[in-house]
Amino acid sequence: MRDTEQFAKEIAGKLLEDAPADAEAPRKLHLPDAPAASRSPLIEMHDIHKSYYIGKPNELEILHGISLQVFPGEFVAIVGESGSGKSTLMNIIGVLDKPTSGEYTLDGVDIHNAADNELAAIRNRKIGFVFQTYNLIGRQSALKNVELPMLYAGVPAGERTRRAKDWLARVGMAERMKHQPNELSGGQKQRVAIARAMVNEPALILADEPTGALDSETSRIVMDLFHEMHEKYHKTIVLITHNPQLAEECQRVLTLRDGLIVGERKGSGKRAAL
Ligand SMILES: Nc1ncnc2c1ncn2[C@@H]1O[C@H](COP(=O)(O)OP(=O)(O)OP(=O)(O)O)[C@@H](O)[C@H]1O
Ligand SMILES: [Mg+2]
Repeated sequence: MRDTEQFAKEIAGKLLEDAPADAEAPRKLHLPDAPAASRSPLIEMHDIHKSYYIGKPNELEILHGISLQVFPGEFVAIVGESGSGKSTLMNIIGVLDKPTSGEYTLDGVDIHNAADNELAAIRNRKIGFVFQTYNLIGRQSALKNVELPMLYAGVPAGERTRRAKDWLARVGMAERMKHQPNELSGGQKQRVAIARAMVNEPALILADEPTGALDSETSRIVMDLFHEMHEKYHKTIVLITHNPQLAEECQRVLTLRDGLIVGERKGSGKRAAL
């Protein structure tokens, strides 16, 4: 099994390495219109395979042909046993990793033909990541952590600070923006991570077990934030969870088993009553 902590570190490194492709003028925060059902898919995958080389001549295939469509404004859960390939799939969706074969189009961009700097720009602009282990930068305040993605996007300093404060307030962390991660609880760290994921106004939020390290009460607060990002800001969200109750609250639940999607059902799309 892949060590989550180790993986989170690798991803943090990857996200940090992503240099800005070009400077971009600051954008005004806007609330998009509710998505129309007829829009083309944000995520379109066809027959995705992923193999790892585990020393010659062995090749270990983890994903065996995943086809998937996610439309703008959808809130989708991915469930499945440990080792079924959820994080592997999520890393491909998030262009942190490339498939071995198959087709993947993200927001109209053919990932297969995109250069590395284009992929970095896509990660930075189109996707907000939330991980089980928060992945915040130590010895940096919550504010600086939330500013970071905007630094890579070329947003000017004053605008960075303004937007970071704004998002920290939206997730209920205005009082603690000067605190460093080790001075925050797990739930507070995850709220900072959600603010960081949202601050570039990405189309897509990818969350890999965001409540996996939290107690049920704190999980509720974090899940409510995802609902808010979905309902109020019309974000497309793909959420991996082991918690069947939380999965049920999404609009669609995909079940992964041994690297294949073996089930798809509707969820309520609504937060459960406390
Ligand atoms: N870099 C790698 N090299 C070899 N095998 C890998 C690699 N990364 C993942 N795997 C294997 O791929 C399989 C799927 O792993 P993945 O992390 O996607 O599972 P998961 O469904 O996210 O599990 P969990 O619920 O425990 O997080 C596992 O058997 C894992 O050991
Ligand atoms: Mg995983």
